[in-house]
Amino acid sequence: MQIDVFTLFPEAFAWFERQRHVANALAAGSSLEYVNYRDHTPLTGGQVDDSPFGGGAGMVLRVDVVEAAMRARYGEDPVSLRDSRRVIALTPGGRVLDDRLVDELAAEPALTLLSGRYEGFDERVLQNFATDRISIGRYVLAGGELAAMVVCDAVFRKLPGALGDEESAVEESFSAALDGAPEYPHYTRPAEYRGWSVPEVLLSGHHARIREWRLEQSRARATEPLP
Ligand SMILES: C[S@@+](CC[C@H](N)C(=O)[O-])C[C@H]1O[C@@H](n2cnc3c(N)ncnc32)[C@H](O)[C@@H]1O
Repeated sequence: MQIDVFTLFPEAFAWFERQRHVANALAAGSSLEYVNYRDHTPLTGGQVDDSPFGGGAGMVLRVDVVEAAMRARYGEDPVSLRDSRRVIALTPGGRVLDDRLVDELAAEPALTLLSGRYEGFDERVLQNFATDRISIGRYVLAGGELAAMVVCDAVFRKLPGALGDEESAVEESFSAALDGAPEYPHYTRPAEYRGWSVPEVLLSGHHARIREWRLEQSRARATEPLP
């Protein structure tokens, strides 16, 4: 998986790259690279944004700046780049990221993530350069960097070898293995704590019953009201 993140703040990803599953994915041949819009702006003084036509608060990331950065990276018109590569604009109003979408993205050979800042992108970026618009939830962050990390985190942990042997992304909350339901509860030692005991079945050593109990719990969590 080759991921390019377009951002004004590539340094924000330093911590993220050190996370074990990300480092594992990178060591196994994936890549995570950054393009700073400001490094390629055709405007003077490193300008990347401008005030909105029609007035209003905030600044808008310019379409010519985004195009220049994409051309510098790919050597082609970003309009046609969409035929060969998934280009994702991170935006609060986009398709909300879920496990199905993560599976879809993890199956791609390469992704481009466009992070916005300020008031967001000039609409022509979304219309003409992006194949997808993805939101990590119905709230507004100050910038797309955290959203890009969320997408990369969820995608990388789906890749073979990213998780340690003791972990698996196959049977987790919302996975096909659990029919899209939340995962069942986990417990560890001590078996008894302040009168809170671990369900008997988990101590029984009876694998078929444990499996059945876990699936029941998972199904129940899909329908029960949240605390
Ligand atoms: C302050 S936000 C812009 C919000 C925009 N004015 C709006 O109301 O939809 C700046 C940038 O942060 C990113 N962003 C903020 N919230 C996000 C979310 N929930 N999902 C994905 N990206 C988000 C986007 O890249 C966006 O362009």
